[in-house]
Amino acid sequence: MPSDLVIVANRLPVDRVQLSDGTPGWRRSPGGLVTAIEPVMRAGAGTWIGWAGGTDQGLEPFEDDGMHLVPMSMSAEDIERFYEGFSNGTIWPIYHDLVAKPEFHRVWWDAYVSVNRRFAQKAAEVAAEGATVWVHDYQLQLVPQMLRDLRPDLRIGFYLHIPFPPAELFAQLPWRRQILEGLLGADLIGFQLPGGAANFVRLVRQRVGHKTHRDLVYLPDGRAVRAAAFPISIDAKGFEELAQSEPVAERAQEIREALGNPRKIFLGIDRLDYTKGIYARLRAYSELISDGHFDVEDAVFVQVAVPSREQVEQYRILRDEIDRLVGRINGDLGRIGRPAISYLHSSYPREEMAALYRAADIMVVTPYRDGMNLVAKEYVACRFENDGALVLSEFAGAADELRQAWLVNPYDINGMKSALLDAYRADSSELTRRMKAMRKTVRQHDVAAWAEEFMIQLSDVGFHHKQTRPAHHG
Ligand code: G6P
Repeated sequence: MPSDLVIVANRLPVDRVQLSDGTPGWRRSPGGLVTAIEPVMRAGAGTWIGWAGGTDQGLEPFEDDGMHLVPMSMSAEDIERFYEGFSNGTIWPIYHDLVAKPEFHRVWWDAYVSVNRRFAQKAAEVAAEGATVWVHDYQLQLVPQMLRDLRPDLRIGFYLHIPFPPAELFAQLPWRRQILEGLLGADLIGFQLPGGAANFVRLVRQRVGHKTHRDLVYLPDGRAVRAAAFPISIDAKGFEELAQSEPVAERAQEIREALGNPRKIFLGIDRLDYTKGIYARLRAYSELISDGHFDVEDAVFVQVAVPSREQVEQYRILRDEIDRLVGRINGDLGRIGRPAISYLHSSYPREEMAALYRAADIMVVTPYRDGMNLVAKEYVACRFENDGALVLSEFAGAADELRQAWLVNPYDINGMKSALLDAYRADSSELTRRMKAMRKTVRQHDVAAWAEEFMIQLSDVGFHHKQTRPAHHG
């Protein structure tokens, strides 16, 4: 059945995995994209095209909780060159401020082009006449134009879940021109922050030569493309209700007891990624103990590191570094039954996350660069008693909205130490004042409002009657 709304993302919301008894099963996919899009998709009937993880499994389309899912297959070579290679070894570090060094390989780019083409072809197959297709994230930046060439009748939106870099960094990409043109196939291009949208428009003007005015690009074929910010969010009400539920309350209590009922629990939850600043954060925390500000009896740091992109070299190195650091800190500072850091290399279902959020007094989110960071928003949504502290990097997109957090520069270890200590010592009236304000923001700007705003603007853009310039060549 052709669909009027098609989501195209690298990942499906569920991942095909092997259960412990060896039989195949499904697990929720990691990361912010799925967290945000899933509730939107459940609310309206649509089709979601994406990869189910793993190599070619010949999976047929299927229904999952009201969503129609269309699995895309990937060969081992696609995974190596398109997913681990160009997407996560080239684009990811460039778009995150060069926190790690990107690699440029022509065979990776060729794979990126051919996988994008397959996704575009699949979208062209399943979309109904005049349908809306919403393409997501950095893995699929060529899909909008490829899809438009196949199906000019469609309305096409694109949303980038990660930061869009300054022109100076983007310009390093040997395929910069093709990526800009790929994105311009969309009618509306959404970014997390206004700065990302402005970077994009500037690059289009400089590198492709199209006429632009504010957030609009005027193409020679008469199309007007809008590039604007739509800060993404979460299902705030859903998280709050989950946090209030009896099983989650009991589980939160159990967690506190298992940790030895310390006065304060610090919490970090991140994919194990070098952009997240986990190493510096744990060092800052451990120095507070060795400096004598508090003791392992008073506080514990629970760090959940969700396994991610484990075949990529830089992620393996990071894992070893964190393993060593945690071992050293606990060896130096811990006592029997009292580690300084309780480290969990695992992913957990939403219920367990909500219980952790409920149990934690201080949530620590200190990425070097992050498109939004939904964990920060989830913590706020779960603190229905208006308590708990959020220590947040000013380089996470969420810092634009959550101004009442303790904002820190993650490169500044002493600054992080004093913010962690301030949060540790804050009295309840200060916590309430800050949390109340943040909760209001998260409740008002939830993910349903985000999707609605994007869809309204997507139905609005179209054609212009301006004089245009021909594009630059090369
Ligand atoms: C971020 C990206 C998503 C990605 C997720 C998990 O949230 O924006 O596109 O799906 O990380 O990463 P993975 O490589 O496991 O899909």
